[in-house]
Amino acid sequence: MSSYKHIEVAPITGNIGAEILGVDLKVNDAETIQEIRRALLEHVVVFFRDQDLDMAEYISFAQQFGPFGKEPFVETMSEHPNVIAVVKEATETKTINFGGQWHSDWSFQECPPFATLLRGIDIPPYGGDTLFANMYLGYETLSDGIKKLIEPLIAVHSARRPYGLGKSILGDTDKKAMKIVRSEEAHNEVEHPLVRVHPETGRKLLFINPVYTVRLKGMSESESKDLLNQLYRHALNEAFTCRFRWRKNSIAMWDNRCSMHLAINDYDGYRRELHRITIAGDEPYGTAKPKPDISRKVLSAG
Ligand code: SIN
Repeated sequence: MSSYKHIEVAPITGNIGAEILGVDLKVNDAETIQEIRRALLEHVVVFFRDQDLDMAEYISFAQQFGPFGKEPFVETMSEHPNVIAVVKEATETKTINFGGQWHSDWSFQECPPFATLLRGIDIPPYGGDTLFANMYLGYETLSDGIKKLIEPLIAVHSARRPYGLGKSILGDTDKKAMKIVRSEEAHNEVEHPLVRVHPETGRKLLFINPVYTVRLKGMSESESKDLLNQLYRHALNEAFTCRFRWRKNSIAMWDNRCSMHLAINDYDGYRRELHRITIAGDEPYGTAKPKPDISRKVLSAG
């Protein structure tokens, strides 16, 4: 029997993703929001259909989950400083799309977002689906030997590959409808444990991604590559992923702490627009980097 009283939760695969039915997101009562949050923790990404919200209603729904995250390197909407319009115009053909490689959002931040919401505005007649991967399973299905090997490792994250001053993996950023702001700041590095403990579920997961994880601490990029690629290959087993077909007024919300995602670029000649909001998260921790308040206590005790 379902443990949800206010929503219906219909998994779309056995491993990741659920559609949430029977809910109008204009009505943000606390118990419904609590149940949506519980479904998110259980399924990693949740989807809503036919939510005809205006921008104020969309923002108000997002705010029920916490304060906004910070949006660096991409200009937000002029009237909505916490919303990014993810746009590829019909004329932008043979280009690299925003979000087109496996990543988790802004993992180069000290405190990467807890969740991201994305709402379908203008959807091509085919293509432009988003894929999601469950990074708990990426970790849990590793052998004990590999788990032991990676547990003490720290991964170094940086925004430099897409947003740094050299060649960008996004291609020619000046020719995009989205305003990308590349800067020196994108070269900063932040360290996170490779094996992260989820602050709400307590489960361990792989907290790395091919866009922002640039190397492992104490190793060069080329030395780190083999192990990181092996972990990505393992984590991106099709059985640990799901695929979402967009429609106007669909909303996806993912737990950015334990997932990766990718937008497929297979709709040249058609326009695609979605509106993205991130919700602030906390500092990742794991065996390789203790929970911040514990380390502070240890420091002050010493
Ligand atoms: C993103 O990576 O945040 C955007 C994903 C998408 O456009 O489907």
